[in-house]
Amino acid sequence: MIGAIESPEVRLLNLKGRNFVDLMDFEISELRHFLETGHDLKQKQKRGEPHELLKGKSMAMIFMKSSTRTRVSFEVGMTQLGGHALFLQPSGTQLGRGETIADTAQVLGRYCDVIMARVFGHEEVTELAKFAGVPVVNGLSDLLHPCQIMADMMTIEEHKGKLEGLKIAYVGDSNNVSNSIMQGCTIMGMDVTIGSPKGYTPSDDILKKTSALSKTHGTTLTVVNDPSEAVKGVDVIYTDTFFSMGQERLKEKEDALMQFQVNDTLVGKAKSDVIVMHCLPAHRDEELTSKVMDGPHSVVFDQAENRLHAQKGILALIV
Ligand code: CP
Ligand code: NVA
Repeated sequence: MIGAIESPEVRLLNLKGRNFVDLMDFEISELRHFLETGHDLKQKQKRGEPHELLKGKSMAMIFMKSSTRTRVSFEVGMTQLGGHALFLQPSGTQLGRGETIADTAQVLGRYCDVIMARVFGHEEVTELAKFAGVPVVNGLSDLLHPCQIMADMMTIEEHKGKLEGLKIAYVGDSNNVSNSIMQGCTIMGMDVTIGSPKGYTPSDDILKKTSALSKTHGTTLTVVNDPSEAVKGVDVIYTDTFFSMGQERLKEKEDALMQFQVNDTLVGKAKSDVIVMHCLPAHRDEELTSKVMDGPHSVVFDQAENRLHAQKGILALIV
């Protein structure tokens, strides 16, 4: 796996200039190329080998919402690649005074080589991509979180040695993270089960598109309303917050989702070597117990670390 960045078949893939907004825009071979590049750059960094592939390049980072991992991993990643990243928020820019996304995109595209954006509505990031003239990376929208899932798939490969044929269950609120899991894991040949309470399952639109994808890839995509049924015999359990950024905290939703908490009992229903994942930040003892998060099955901090390496792989190939 490591070193495949130089292999003949991946050398033929040219991803330069592509946007990284939605995993559905990519073929399996393209996602594989991003993953291999991430693994390869991780090894290079661990060995202390220089890998300044983006020397002299600049990345604008627009944050409409808060962030710890995405902000720091992209900024540090760009530095390690020899480039520079600018942290931009509405309050310190003219976005806060109402300058449109289309105008902002056209200006930033003339200074910078790539734009990363964390937005509310998904259309904000597609609008940026339409007008920027440089590659745009989705650092989370209300619909999708593709960079997270690339780091997660790197993490699964590190712990399980493969992706194809594995079973992953996402339990909890259906959201941007679960949507990107359905897409990314399906493309890479995993069987995906979503376990969510009624009323909090994936939207018909995303389900329709991803079900069609799973048929093409010969995998299964299942939605159940019972957490125990969802995790039965799986290799990976994944969960996320009950309330994503921008969502109102509702008691009724909290009560429904507490039944889907990832705790020792639920973990005991999966394979004995199951890994437990969370994109973080976690709300300890809500969507997962502290005991599970700090326990032997948890790989949550490996996932956080791999944000750095996976995103360096993405930037190195598209910029
Ligand atoms: N997982 C993730 O995107 O974390 P941040 O919100 O801290 O960036
Ligand atoms: N679903 C969460 C992910 C945070 C990284 C949110 O959108 O807030």
